[in-house]
Amino acid sequence: MNAKSSILLGVNVDHVATLRQARNIDYPDPIEAALIAEKNGADSITVHLREDRRHIQDHDVERLIAVNNSRVNLEMAATSEMIDIACSLKPFDCCLVPEKREELTTEGGLDVMGEVDDLSISIHRLKKSGIKVSLFIDPDPKQIETSKMIGADAVEIHTGLYADSLNAKDQDYELERVKECAKHAKKIGLQVNAGHGLNYQNTALISAIPEVEELNIGHAIIARSVIVGMAEAVKEMKTIMESSRK
Ligand code: PXP
Repeated sequence: MNAKSSILLGVNVDHVATLRQARNIDYPDPIEAALIAEKNGADSITVHLREDRRHIQDHDVERLIAVNNSRVNLEMAATSEMIDIACSLKPFDCCLVPEKREELTTEGGLDVMGEVDDLSISIHRLKKSGIKVSLFIDPDPKQIETSKMIGADAVEIHTGLYADSLNAKDQDYELERVKECAKHAKKIGLQVNAGHGLNYQNTALISAIPEVEELNIGHAIIARSVIVGMAEAVKEMKTIMESSRK
């Protein structure tokens, strides 16, 4: 981890694997991209091992944990298959997300209140294996309180509605919700992360929120890397984030 960072950047390399899986071959390698990201400002690397294995494969997670010097954040659904994999591979963090087969990407936060029993068991198993657990939730105070109640270490606040806002008024409204929830989550003792839909235009307002400790960003960085290379794409995002904290 980069100890000097005022705000941490988790780079999600799923879409390097998306490109590889489009041809079912062995390049580009998400682990090679992760190592470049790490050298250029990434404080952690996120991979989402989906039930349908549409991008990241089991061997990617194994290799990443074997070679990676910074933290690995394994994003996954709270199914018994995934919890078994995580407990055996022991990434630094696990972020539990809802998952639907037909979705293009994660479409909303977890319904923590509606799944208290199952999520509590999953969190307990992961924490017993020494893994820090984060829950991906919408900016809703009740989801935050329930996350704390069932033992989560962190929440990742879903910034999708903020990012997808079609006008300034809606975006301000969504930004306020994220800010209020970040404050509340920190106050009750949760680490606060945020992510989804963040790009080079909309990240600064989220990274300026003082309670936010880490942002997880994937698609925008991988898309930018096609034009300027992975090293530059990560550096540009980290610069935006750090400038917003000055
Ligand atoms: N955080 C979570 C929990 C996600 O599911 C995703 C998408 O995989 C991201 C962050 C990154 O989103 P994006 O690719 O839009 O930056």
